[in-house]
Amino acid sequence: MRLCRLQVYNFRNLANVQLTFPEGPCLFVGDNGQGKTNLLEAIFVLSVFRSFRADSEIQMVRREAIEQGLGMAKVTAEIARNLGPLRLELAMVVREEGHVGKSVKVNGAPKRINEAVGAFLAVLFTANDLELISGSPAARRRYLDLLLSRLDPGYVLSRQRLSKVLLQRNYLLRQIKEGAARPEEMEFWDQCLAQEAARMIWARAQTVASLQSLVASAYTTLGEGEDIELHYVPKLGAAGNDALHQGPDALAEAFRLDLERLRPQETAAGMTLLGPQRDDIEITWKGVPAAGYVSRGQERILALALRVAEALYLKEAKGDSPLLLLDDVVSELDVRRRKRLLDILSRYEQVLATATDLQSFPPELVASSSIYMVSKGEVLPVSPAKGQQPDLPEP
Ligand SMILES: Nc1ncnc2c1ncn2[C@@H]1O[C@H](COP(=O)(O)OP(=O)(O)O)[C@@H](O)[C@H]1O
Ligand SMILES: [Mg+2]
Repeated sequence: MRLCRLQVYNFRNLANVQLTFPEGPCLFVGDNGQGKTNLLEAIFVLSVFRSFRADSEIQMVRREAIEQGLGMAKVTAEIARNLGPLRLELAMVVREEGHVGKSVKVNGAPKRINEAVGAFLAVLFTANDLELISGSPAARRRYLDLLLSRLDPGYVLSRQRLSKVLLQRNYLLRQIKEGAARPEEMEFWDQCLAQEAARMIWARAQTVASLQSLVASAYTTLGEGEDIELHYVPKLGAAGNDALHQGPDALAEAFRLDLERLRPQETAAGMTLLGPQRDDIEITWKGVPAAGYVSRGQERILALALRVAEALYLKEAKGDSPLLLLDDVVSELDVRRRKRLLDILSRYEQVLATATDLQSFPPELVASSSIYMVSKGEVLPVSPAKGQQPDLPEP
């Protein structure tokens, strides 16, 4: 698929950006802090309707607008897909106490977020992807969650329900601990948790199994021929582990049993100790955990391989090429790896990439790309026509 037009209004430092994208790659250059990442984030948010970095959604709304009492950000895109044209609109309105209300329209019709997620496919590569390898399990769960969200609307619902169930359940565990509630009240919440947990764990385990060969082969293509393996490590009890390969229904029943057995420990801790909120993906290199052994450079290649695998997985599952967004990642690679990454990227319909200067990109990419300058939240085309070397202002 291809992003044809984009309008960004009051999104971070982008007050009002309107762009029409020609075919072929687009490169965005500009000094630090000008809005390059913000632009890619604005596009990516239309794929998953969550930020890839905001701790709270209010951060996505332009501060000056909030101060003036006009706390609304809006991103609109027109996309050409194999399934037909798509118009997406996301409005974020700041309400009382910093809560952000999101509303979504697909081809003009209001939709719920879980109905709109994944209509537009984008994959975002960032320099922070290193945390997929060396960061906490939360980063890897997020990777899986965002991937599955774009493929399976039911997964989005399960995830939303899981967070609600966990809140209720943890509250009740504390009540039981204080003698303010009876343990039997837990049964209902156990049932709810087991159902959502089993569904999510099942989906995640299948996905990691499919990603394994894609990550390994991307890692090889990008220049390292060593064996990389991915394993999904669910946080289950003994029964759950036995039922892991028996389907979501058997897994749910086993999970419920594990919760029953674990009741005393959970009550003492006042929190839920099992479930997908504690899972991880183990990434091994030559049979040992990658994070502890590989070099910083290898970590970078491995993180890149995870994103390449994500793109390929989406492409195969949805039968359409996702839009690739590369934020500051090309400049970090040596020349040989840049070339290999470019070969991979050329299999996708559209690539948008950022860097602080054009020299970060291979000359053949620059020659075939449209170039934009990003400065103080404005995005200006600098190449008069594709294929010509632009006159860039001296840095
Ligand atoms: N909600 C917001 N309102 C206004 N400005 C913001 C908001 N969030 C981030 N910014 C600004 O955006 C700028 C960073 O933009 P960014 O896209 O990360 O830059 P870069 O070009 O280096 O990728 C910073 O100057 C920051 O203050
Ligand atoms: Mg940036």
